[in-house]
Amino acid sequence: MIEIMSSSELERAKVTGALVADILQEMKRRARVGTNLLEIDQWTRSMIEEAGAQSCYVNYEPSFGRGPFGHYICTAVNDAVLHGLPHDYALADGDLLTLDLAVIKDGVAADAAISFIVGEARPAQSVAMIRATERALAAGIAAARPGAKIGDISHAIGAVLSEAGFPVNTEFGGHGIGSTMHQDPHIPNTGRPGRGYKLVPGLMLALEPWIMADTAELAMDPDGWTLRSATGCRTAHTEHTIAITEDGAEILTLPTGR
Ligand code: MF3
Ligand code: CO
Repeated sequence: MIEIMSSSELERAKVTGALVADILQEMKRRARVGTNLLEIDQWTRSMIEEAGAQSCYVNYEPSFGRGPFGHYICTAVNDAVLHGLPHDYALADGDLLTLDLAVIKDGVAADAAISFIVGEARPAQSVAMIRATERALAAGIAAARPGAKIGDISHAIGAVLSEAGFPVNTEFGGHGIGSTMHQDPHIPNTGRPGRGYKLVPGLMLALEPWIMADTAELAMDPDGWTLRSATGCRTAHTEHTIAITEDGAEILTLPTGR
């Protein structure tokens, strides 16, 4: 199903989006050397509940995971990239951490992800990978406007990732979002311009470029959720929820800076 949001729903989407972004920034601030992934999960739970919002993850039971997710945020370290199940692990200096969060508030969902390096180390390849996903996301957003097609966004994202030298996996990508987290259309991270669904004002999309250093192949953890690079190489992932407006696109998951 493709959902077109009303102006009052879009106003609420901005509130949900800012909440998601602010929680992610707060978790980034708290994610120090020695911080446990389970602490990040519990802090996220508290912030969601304090805001009067609901988790899109805790009871989520999609075909690509085993049973309800049971946690409030995805935590993916180094070779883990998507659907990282929080577990008993203390972060180390130089770890590349991806946090992915979706919540629903007043009937409207928002979804965002950030990748960053924990501690003082600055591993050059990891920095380059994070920057590549951020640039790809910016290019995808720049391609999003009424009349453009999903393929234009996919192509813009894929071009940046490929030029940066990274293979692109097409099993998981971005998606429509609205009153629920995952909706049509699917937005692959590579594609042909001019193809696919035509964008209209009121459409909300989650764009999420992600890469693995030297492979496009994923491997599933025994936990039934966490997806890692098949080769053990590092990975990165950046995501925003946007709304198509009359003349372009607005990013809904920007932090308020509080
Ligand atoms: N937020 C993720 C996405 O970007 C989905 C996580 S689903 C979960 O689409 F089940 F793993 F929580
Ligand atoms: Co998403």
